[in-house]
Order: sequence, then structure tokens, then C-alpha cells
Amino acid sequence: MKGYTVWFTGLSGSGKSALANRLAQEIRKRGQTAEVIDGDVIRRSVSKGLGFSQEDRDENIRRVGHLCSYLTATDRVAIAACISPYASIRDRNRDLIGNFVEVYCKCSVEECAKRDPKGLYKKAFAGEIKGFTGVDDPYEAPENPEVMVETDKETIDQSLGTILAKLEELGYLPKPDGLTPEEEQAVVERLESLGYLS
Ligand code: ADX
Repeated sequence: MKGYTVWFTGLSGSGKSALANRLAQEIRKRGQTAEVIDGDVIRRSVSKGLGFSQEDRDENIRRVGHLCSYLTATDRVAIAACISPYASIRDRNRDLIGNFVEVYCKCSVEECAKRDPKGLYKKAFAGEIKGFTGVDDPYEAPENPEVMVETDKETIDQSLGTILAKLEELGYLPKPDGLTPEEEQAVVERLESLGYLS
């Protein structure tokens, strides 16, 4: 197989990690080796000590880009889930990696703040955290991502379906073994109509 990188970008709480993990499960079921590189984990390890200035975020994303590049070049699937708010460093990673599929997790700040799984939006709105993405720090949405999912309007299964379909279309991911649920239903209906299942 050829390696590739799926790069999730979006606000904190937009669903990047959840989607990345579901995607990895599905990709593994189809026989490919997938590794999730999650911003929260990287910031406790490879990027320990970095903060949230533009310089530090770019350095964080540059490092994640090299990890993805290594995995991709060794025929594996890298799935990155970092806010990655700045377009220029995302594009630099695209150039570095080559087989690069950008997935924009679009979700309003209001919805992310409502979810607030780590309680950070509350602190950011109270001014206890400064420079929080989407509150008082910029987020540059991708202009031409391969995939955009609207996680405040879709279920996680819908978003996952959109991503999988794009990876199949781009030739990165084989179609699943066996029938899709829709195909299976169609077969059942056909057999019923022919009287085989009554
Ligand atoms: S990035 O900007 O460098 O891509 P990354 O995805 O690694 O960010 O880390 C984001 C996580 O760090 C958030 O989900 C949140 O838990 C935490 N965090 C702490 N401070 C901030 C901040 N000022 N802005 C955004 N996220 C922050």
C-alpha cells in the first residue's frame, strides 16, 4: 500500500480526536496500518514545553508534520488531530508529505464552547486563559480542504462516511469487504420480492 496522511484541523472541541480515532479503527479494519497523532498527546511528549504563541504552535505543527512524513514515507497512514490554526504551516506540511488529505472540522465557537469537554472555553471567556483559539486567538480555516465536515450539523457517523468516501475516491482506501448496509438491504428486498425469504 502507499502511505498517506489525513490531517484534521479545527477548533478545540470540534471533534477532531473523536473522528481521528473512529477513522483509524475503520482504516485498520480495511487492512491498513494507521497511527493517530493527537495534539493533546504530542504536547505532553514531543512538544513538551511549547506554548500557544504563533511561533510555538507552528513549531508544534512542524514536528507533527515530520512524524506524519515519516509514517507516510514508510507506507503507513498518519492521522493528525491538532488545531493547526495557521494555514501556511499546514500547507508546508502538505508539500513535505505529498499524500496529504486535509479534513476541516467546521464547528461554530458557540457549539465548541457548549461542548467544552475540558472546561477551557469557560476559562478563556472568563479571561483566565489568554490567546485561546477561536476566542481571542485566530483560526485560519482551510480554503480548499479535500474534505469539510460540519460537526455541529452532522452525526459523527455522517462525518466519518464523508471522509471514508473521499479516501476511497482518491484511491487511498480500498472499499470495505462485503456489502455496505444499503447494498445488503437491497439484496434482502430483492430476495423477499422473489419470495425466497418468506
Ligand atoms: S495547536 O494550535 O498547536 O495545533 P494543539 O492541537 O497542539 O494546538 O493543542 C490544542 C489543545 O491544547 C487544546 O485542545 C486545548 O486542550 C489545549 N490548549 C491550551 N491552551 C490553549 C490555547 N491557548 N489555545 C488552544 N488550545 C489550547
